[in-house]
Amino acid sequence: MEEDTSNGKIPLCSFLTDKTSKICVLGHRGLVGSAIVRKLQHLGFTNLLLRTHCELDLTRQNDVESFFAAEKPRFVILAAAKVGGIHANSNYPADFIAINLQIQTNVIDSSYRHGVQKLLFLGSSCIYPKLAPQPIPEDALLTSPLEPTNEWYAVAKIAGIKMCQAYRIQYGWDAISAMPTNLYGPNDNFHPENSHVLPALMRRFHEAKVKKAKEVVVWGTGSPLREFLHVDDLADAAIFLMESYSGLGQLNVGSGKEVSIKELAELVKDVVGFEGELVWDPSKPDGTPRKLMDCSNLAELGWSPKISLKDGLADTYKWYLENVKQ
Ligand SMILES: NC(=O)c1ccc[n+]([C@@H]2O[C@H](COP(=O)([O-])OP(=O)(O)OC[C@H]3O[C@@H](n4cnc5c(N)ncnc54)[C@H](OP(=O)(O)O)[C@@H]3O)[C@@H](O)[C@H]2O)c1
Repeated sequence: MEEDTSNGKIPLCSFLTDKTSKICVLGHRGLVGSAIVRKLQHLGFTNLLLRTHCELDLTRQNDVESFFAAEKPRFVILAAAKVGGIHANSNYPADFIAINLQIQTNVIDSSYRHGVQKLLFLGSSCIYPKLAPQPIPEDALLTSPLEPTNEWYAVAKIAGIKMCQAYRIQYGWDAISAMPTNLYGPNDNFHPENSHVLPALMRRFHEAKVKKAKEVVVWGTGSPLREFLHVDDLADAAIFLMESYSGLGQLNVGSGKEVSIKELAELVKDVVGFEGELVWDPSKPDGTPRKLMDCSNLAELGWSPKISLKDGLADTYKWYLENVKQ
C-alpha cells in the first residue's frame, strides 16, 4: 500500500455519526449503488441525494457542476460507470474510455470544488495488469501491460484512481479509492449474452430447470479459480472505508476465498435446483487460470466479509425469481 505523502495528513472525519449528512450516491440503480443505498438506509441515514441517469447525465460537465453547486452534498460515493464484459469492451472501446473519463472527471472535480468532505471512487480488480502476481497486491497497479480486451475501461479507471491521489496531494482533499473483486447479488445483470459468469450460470440453470432440460453445457474445463464477493459485503466495506480509511493508495476489497468455476457451477446448480447434468466442454477456452486479490491491507484495518458464497447465491436467486422477467 502506498504511503500518504500529501502535505498535511488528512484526518479521518466521522462518516457514521451524523445520520442526517447529505450523502450523494451516484449510480444508485446499479448493482453496487443500489446495495450502498440499501446499506445506508439500513443504518438510518435520512438525507440521501440520488439522481437517475435520465435526471442527471454525469458525462455533461455543466449539468454536473450545477448539480453540485446547488446541492452541496457532504459525502459522495461514485458508483456510476459504463461497465460491461469483453464483448461490450471490444465493440465499444470509445464509449468505455470516453464515458468513464467524463463521468469521473466531472464528479471528482465538481465534488472538490463544491466542498464535498470525502469521496469514494470505485476501481476494479480487472484493471490490474494481465500477468499480475497472485494474489494481486495493491502495488501491482501499473507495473506491466493490461488485459488487452478491457484496456479502454482500465485506462479510464486508473486515471480515476490517479485523479483521487492527485487531488489528495495537491489540495489535501479526502478522495479515496477501492478495488472490488467480481461482485454479484440483487440488481446484477442477467442478460443472456453480456452478463458475467455467475449471473450467466444462474440464468442458464434456471432456464434449463423450467424447460426440464437434460443437461447444461458450460464452456471450458471448470478449473480456473476465481473470487466472488456479494455486493452487500462490498457496500458494507464501502461504508467501512468512508468511516475508517483516509489514504493515498487504493484498497482491494474481496472475499479472500478462491473457488473453481466447477465448484461455482455446482453450487449454482444446487441453489437453482436444476436436476439434470452439468457437462463441461473442454474444447472451449478457460481464460486466466487464477484471479485472486490480496486483501490483507483491508483485513488489517479491521474489515472482513460476512456473506458465504452459498448464502449469497441463495439470496441472489431469490431476487432473480422475484425481479427478472421469466
Ligand atoms: N459489477 C462488478 O462485478 C464490479 C466489480 C468491480 C468494480 N465494479 C465497479 O463498481 C461500479 C458500479 O458498477 P455496477 O456493477 O454497479 O454497474 P451497473 O450495475 O451497470 O451500474 C452503473 C450505474 O451507473 C449509471 N450510469 C452509467 N452511465 C451514467 C451516466 N452517464 N450518467 C449517470 N449515470 C450513469 C447506470 O445507469 P443506467 O443503467 O441508467 O445507465 C447504472 O445505474 C463501477 O465503477 C465498476 O467499475 C463493479
